[in-house]
Formats: sequence, C-alpha cells, structure tokens
Amino acid sequence: ETLSERSLRAVAQFIKDGRAKRIVVMTGAGISTAAGIPDFRSPKTGLYHNLSRFNLPHPEAVFEIDFFRTNPEPFYLLAKELYPGNFSPTVSHAFIALLAKKGLLRMLFTQNIDCLERAAGVPSEKIVEAHGSFATQRCIECRTEFPDDLMREHVKRGEAPRCIRKGCGGLVKPDIVFFGEQLPEAFYNNISVPNTADLMLVMGTSLLVHPFAGLPRRAQEGVPRVLFNLERVGDMGSRADDVLVLGDCDSGIRKLADELGWRDELEALWRS
Ligand code: OAD
Repeated sequence: ETLSERSLRAVAQFIKDGRAKRIVVMTGAGISTAAGIPDFRSPKTGLYHNLSRFNLPHPEAVFEIDFFRTNPEPFYLLAKELYPGNFSPTVSHAFIALLAKKGLLRMLFTQNIDCLERAAGVPSEKIVEAHGSFATQRCIECRTEFPDDLMREHVKRGEAPRCIRKGCGGLVKPDIVFFGEQLPEAFYNNISVPNTADLMLVMGTSLLVHPFAGLPRRAQEGVPRVLFNLERVGDMGSRADDVLVLGDCDSGIRKLADELGWRDELEALWRS
C-alpha cells in the first residue's frame, strides 16, 4: 500500500466521521480531458502546444483581449473545438455532484468553461465559474448580449460574430474571462469561502493562473488539502496535512469513492 493510498483512506475516514461538512472543490482543465476536451498546458496534447498553426506571438495570445480585438479568428477556430454540447461529464464531475447531493459541498470553484459540472448535476448556486463560461456572450465594446442560436452558428463556421446593435459592429465574445479581463463578481464575492473549508479537493489544474491559483493557500492550517492531478502543482504537498493523489483524477476519485463506500452510488449517478 502506498502512502497516498493510506492517506486517501484517512481522508475517507475524516469524511465518514462527519468532520468534513464544508468541502471546497477547485477544478481545472485536467478533469475534462477524459471527456475528450484538451487541457491547456499538457505537453503534446495541450491546446497551447497545438496552436502553432495560427502563427501566434505566444500561445496565450489566443485568450488575450488586446490580441482578440485585432485578430479574433484564432479564438473562433479554437472555440469550435471547445464549444459545449458534444461532451459528457466524467466520473470526477459526478463525484462533485455526489458531494452536493449529500449536502457536503460548500462551493465548487472551477476554471473550466465547458459547463460539465452543471451537466453532471452540481447545483448552479454551488458553482463559481471563475473564468466564466460559454453559456452567454456579448459585444466587447457596448456589452450588448448576443443570441445563443446565432452564436452557435458562428462557432460552427469558426467565424467571429459582430454586435447586433445598430451602428455598433463590435466583436462578440463568449463570457469567458480572457487574460487582461476582470474575473466575474461571483469570484470576488466568494473569495473568502475557501478560508472556511474543512476539507479542500484540488483536481486537474496546473495552478499557474492567478488569482485562482491562490485559493488553495486560503485553507486554514490543519485543514486537509487533497490534490488529484497527474503532477504535483502549486504549493500542494508543502503542508503536513496535504495528500497527493498523483495520476489521472478519475482513478483517484474512484479510489476515494471505494474508501467511502460510495462507489456504486457514484457510478449510478455518473451513468444517469
Ligand atoms: P492546465 O492545462 O494549465 O493544467 C491542467 C492540469 O491537469 C495539468 O497539471 C495536467 O497535468 C493535469 N491533468 C491533465 N489531464 C489529467 C487527468 N486526466 N487527470 C488528472 N490531471 C490531469 O489547465 P488549467 O489549470 O485549468 O484560462 O489552466 C488554467 C487556466 O489557464 C485556464 O482556465 C485558462 C488557461 O489559460 C483562461 O483562458 C483565462
């Protein structure tokens, strides 16, 4: 038995003892790769590795608001691949929904724009979409909203839509947060929620993008922080009560569900 397996059992016991009633979960692109959506920074498979065809000054430029203003095409070509609708939640998404169902989820902070947490059944009032989502879109100049059905058509064709307000003509962008833009109000309104967590689960993120990456540090000393990720990231593992579950997150989550005796319930919820 490995140290992480032993520790995972301790985490399960902690939950079974009723000591974790305000669980805060943080997620990134790594929880959706098993659903077929590429992450950003994984070597070879990540989006940033595969952007060379667009001749960008640097890969992140595709999500920079100043670059978008003059050159929206690369983003819209990419949006075609990322647009929600063709993907189903993973077992890791279902686990977060299960925590909510059991009344143990205090809040989910996600960096993902794929809406798969909602699709898995996590109630929207428990979700902070820190980097926005593809659910709505608006003009970047006058902020006028743009209709969903027209948006879908443009994305399908890989074309940048223009504002529908007469005489505006500004570019339309999904309400996902670009580099150089403010995070949504909901993020700042809930930023101290992680300080009150009694257990923290961090899943599938490189913890490289701030301010999101600062959330795990908000856990009080002595609050267990569990990382489900392919690699060690951020300061995870630096505290005595940290648990590193390195590997693909679906396997790690299934092991935790086994330890909790929740495995059948989890699989049923995932398939439903
Ligand atoms: P990244 O691509 O930076 O990191 C994904 C992390 O998940 C990496 O550490 C991978 O090793 C890990 N990973 C991949 N597949 C996994 C799997 N099946 N199981 C477990 N771990 C896995 O994605 P994010 O951290 O989400 O922002 O990126 C943060 C932000 O950077 C994004 O929200 C986006 C991006 O630029 C904006 O566009 C504003």
